[in-house]
Amino acid sequence: MTEDARFVTPDTLDDGEASLEKSLRPQRLAQYIGQDQVKTELQVYIAAAKQRQESLDHVLLYGPPGLGKTTLAMVIANEMQVSIRTTSGPAIERPGDLVAILNELEPGDVLFIDEIHRLPKVVEEMLYSAMEDFFVDIIIGQGPTAHPVHFPLPPFTLIGATTRAGLLSAPLRDRFGIVAHMAYYDESALTEIVQRSADIFDTQIAGTGAHEIARRSRGTPRIANRLLKRIRDFAQVAQQDTIDQSIVQRALQLLQVDTRGLDVVDQKLLHTMIEFYNGGPVGLSTLAANIGEETDTIEEMYEPYLLQIGFIKRTPRGRIATELAYQHLGLTPPTK
Ligand SMILES: Nc1ncnc2c1ncn2[C@@H]1O[C@H](COP(=O)(O)OP(=O)(O)O)[C@@H](O)[C@H]1O
Ligand SMILES: [Mg+2]
Repeated sequence: MTEDARFVTPDTLDDGEASLEKSLRPQRLAQYIGQDQVKTELQVYIAAAKQRQESLDHVLLYGPPGLGKTTLAMVIANEMQVSIRTTSGPAIERPGDLVAILNELEPGDVLFIDEIHRLPKVVEEMLYSAMEDFFVDIIIGQGPTAHPVHFPLPPFTLIGATTRAGLLSAPLRDRFGIVAHMAYYDESALTEIVQRSADIFDTQIAGTGAHEIARRSRGTPRIANRLLKRIRDFAQVAQQDTIDQSIVQRALQLLQVDTRGLDVVDQKLLHTMIEFYNGGPVGLSTLAANIGEETDTIEEMYEPYLLQIGFIKRTPRGRIATELAYQHLGLTPPTK
């Protein structure tokens, strides 16, 4: 998977891009565009917790990559005026790692665990008492000298993020008082995000240009920002000082991003379903093998948007390509 093929892989960012990415992150809830439902709810819970001078209840954020989960976790900490400590599920390998992290928290602090569905089971189990009653029981020593130690913790807020709420165990999910589903952004929110980012980049963009990028960003701010960066390069080399619709169109043609924002991998997925499997049903693992991607990657990154726009459907016997997908690719659906 090349970086240009996919605009949603944070791991592939180099340092320059990482700091640019950081400058794009809104700091306050008021600057956080879209996700109105989530924002309205959080505003109430944050205000109530602050009035009571309590820590905010634990928050679970779930939704596809690039929709602003990490950003929102930071915004919440800012709004609560507390520090945030960031880690991820796979990074906490042993219970001792978790204790070390919890030990450093000040009262009210936010602990952000990204990819929380990938926490090792023993660590997850230790989190239960930490979340519920702010303590952990740890075993100190080995063999005959081993003894349990009760370790009280300051009240803190756990913010967990996951792309797949379904992979979280019920006991863990139930310990989050606030559960927020992040939805794909609509075009007007994305247009606003593109305009805000262009401002931060000191780049001029016409309304039509911003809207064209928004339309092709698969409902995802991270993709919108990455497309904007590439298009900005393109405009600069073309010596065009304002990004307008036509330069967006030309740049995206070069990047092989189609009119609905589908990239080469999305297109390959649909073509494979249609040309090799007559539109399906075809199993996820078969599809994955055919296009050379992991099943998880397809399930987390590609499929959700294609499902959302109605290009594919899930059936008990596998995935099928819909008539809309055929039409989009300029193909004739099979007659039934
Ligand atoms: N609501 C928003 N308003 C403005 N920019 C956003 C918003 N949500 C996300 N972004 C931008 O999109 C990028 C990806 O967001 P991020 O929080 O890393 O997503 P996630 O953690 O869900 O994968 C960030 O760099 C941020 O600048
Ligand atoms: Mg993230």
